Amino acid sequence: MRIFLDTANIEEIKQGARLGVVSGVTTNPSLVAREKGVSFQAVIKEIASIVEGPISAEVLSLELEGMVKEARELVQWADNVVIKVPISPAGLEAISILSRDDIATNATLCFSPNQGLLAALAGATYVSPFVGRMDDVGQDGMAVVADLVAIFRQYKLPTQVIAASIRHPLHCVAAARAGAHIATVPYKILMQMIQHPLTDVGIARFAEDWRRVSKA
Ligand code: G3P
Repeated sequence: MRIFLDTANIEEIKQGARLGVVSGVTTNPSLVAREKGVSFQAVIKEIASIVEGPISAEVLSLELEGMVKEARELVQWADNVVIKVPISPAGLEAISILSRDDIATNATLCFSPNQGLLAALAGATYVSPFVGRMDDVGQDGMAVVADLVAIFRQYKLPTQVIAASIRHPLHCVAAARAGAHIATVPYKILMQMIQHPLTDVGIARFAEDWRRVSKA
């Protein structure tokens, strides 16, 4: 399973990229809006200059023409921009138009296996089930990830599953077990994935033992 960062914060992306474990970035309008004083275009261009892999940028229009027009502008900003499109009748049509032009898409706001299947049939490059938001309303979010992985495998559909709306490190473990191609994680969770108290204790103990030996 690959790891993407789910943030539009440049510092977080720079820090995460240094670790060598991040192979893409996903943004959404809420994440971009948090980065005050910088334009959408400037944020996406800067992210794309830091991370070579896919950078998801979301269209804001709700109707087909606007979505496709925005998408065609967004892909001019950098070679690695992926167009994030919400799953709706217009969204599916936009995905199918864009996929015919070889424009990579990420079908977002996916909350059911049927939505994900339709996105894949429309030609989406990625589909993003929002695990945490499903869990929030008492739906098993990871089951949707597992269903989509199984369905795409069964029918040899090339669409990749991005486990999104990841809220804690165990979501990442479950996504990997379910066979998600990618988990997109907030920076805080990436840091939590690295940490274990026994690693800290072990490092301190090794250092202390070594200090004692080298003093003797
Ligand atoms: O990028 C979309 C998704 O990951 C949002 O997560 O935490 O706002 O549900 P969240």
